[in-house]
Amino acid sequence: MSRRIIPLVRHGAAPSTAPGSSASGQPLGLVRDTLLRPMHDLRISVTDRCNFRCTYCMPRAVFDKDYSYVPHGDLLSFEEIAQLARLFVAHGVAKIRLTGGEPLLRRDIHELVGMLAQLRAADGTPLDLTLTTNGSLLERMASPLAAAGLKRVTVSLDALDETIFQGMNDAEFRVESVLRGIDAALDAGLGPIKINMVVQRGINENQILPMARYFRGSGQIVRFIEYMDVGTSNGWRMEQVLPSAEVVSMIDREMPIEPVDHNYPGEVAQRWRYRDGGGEIGVISSVTRAFCQSCTRARLSPDGQLYTCLFASQGTQLRELLRGGASELEISGAIASIWRQRSDRYSELRGAATASRDKVEMSYIGG
Ligand code: GTP
Ligand code: 5AD
Ligand code: SF4
Ligand code: SF4
Repeated sequence: MSRRIIPLVRHGAAPSTAPGSSASGQPLGLVRDTLLRPMHDLRISVTDRCNFRCTYCMPRAVFDKDYSYVPHGDLLSFEEIAQLARLFVAHGVAKIRLTGGEPLLRRDIHELVGMLAQLRAADGTPLDLTLTTNGSLLERMASPLAAAGLKRVTVSLDALDETIFQGMNDAEFRVESVLRGIDAALDAGLGPIKINMVVQRGINENQILPMARYFRGSGQIVRFIEYMDVGTSNGWRMEQVLPSAEVVSMIDREMPIEPVDHNYPGEVAQRWRYRDGGGEIGVISSVTRAFCQSCTRARLSPDGQLYTCLFASQGTQLRELLRGGASELEISGAIASIWRQRSDRYSELRGAATASRDKVEMSYIGG
């Protein structure tokens, strides 16, 4: 794996707080896009590979042995990721999520966590540093990740029924291995854990109540996600989407719930809590109730491209700037300029006109 160190600031300086202001006062500092949305979250995809073949994300027929993944030499090194992350933080990012593919497949990922844990937001506080994983490698990785400074994890789990789960991950991974990963994460202090379940009508909708029942009272938060038309390989059809409103009424009928205010502006999930104090759940309704208006998420691909939307067709190559020896100010200026021009609101515009777009894959840009 390439571990080239390209100093952007002082040699030997650990990634720390925001870089100083430029002479012109231009490229550094907080930025807003054309819809006045600040840049608050950075989602870093560290690999486009995964050991699962979820039928809605990496269908086997497409992601087979001939699929062209990002070549190793094109992957950002950990130093490059940390250097870029520091520039994003200078522009207002206070939350970083590591994703993939499956981020725990990236060798020594805890070392990257350790580097990112040193960053401080503009107000001097540590970042909200988290990671989304399929849980299969979490049992052995939870402890080193927590020791390196990870704050919490989100684990994907689409069913408790073995046959349904294996049918969806299409790689013979067992429910039990994910549950063991969740337990290990809790033991390592990474809780409370959010459990992401992508709901597909006719595939795992009968798992909604079992998942709600299983995690109710556990302190963990299940989030039911509407199946989205990400990428171009999953053959998405609107009929396969189960609207969150149906999920809410299904749960409410058996275990009464009430809405809860969001934790922070721009939160993706709508929160609900059990009226009897059994904890909370969330629904993520990108299809039936778009949340683009408050979308503050920037995305960095494994090969160093900046994407400003999950449904974008193209990103902007930052790796070439880094490796070409551009100055910190130049790269920072490029990031600011891309964000200032951002006008994405795909989920609000979704429809016939957007269906045929050539969109980036979720396994490449992260969930
Ligand atoms: P917390 O920080 O724990 O609140 O996490 P989060 O709300 O950022 O949620 P998470 O990163 O776990 O995202 C959950 C799911 O929401 C993802 O797997 C996607 O399916 C969906 N999602 C997240 N961000 C976006 C987005 O910007 N656009 C769309 N359309 N969907 C998103
Ligand atoms: N629709 C909704 N969510 C998806 N994810 C992956 N593909 C889709 C899709 N088509 C989510 C999974 C996982 C995260 C990495 O991305 O829930 O939690
Ligand atoms: Fe892998 Fe997550 Fe995509 Fe499933 S949804 S194939 S676990 S990246
Ligand atoms: Fe943000 Fe694009 Fe998702 Fe809208 S569709 S919430 S702009 S990532």
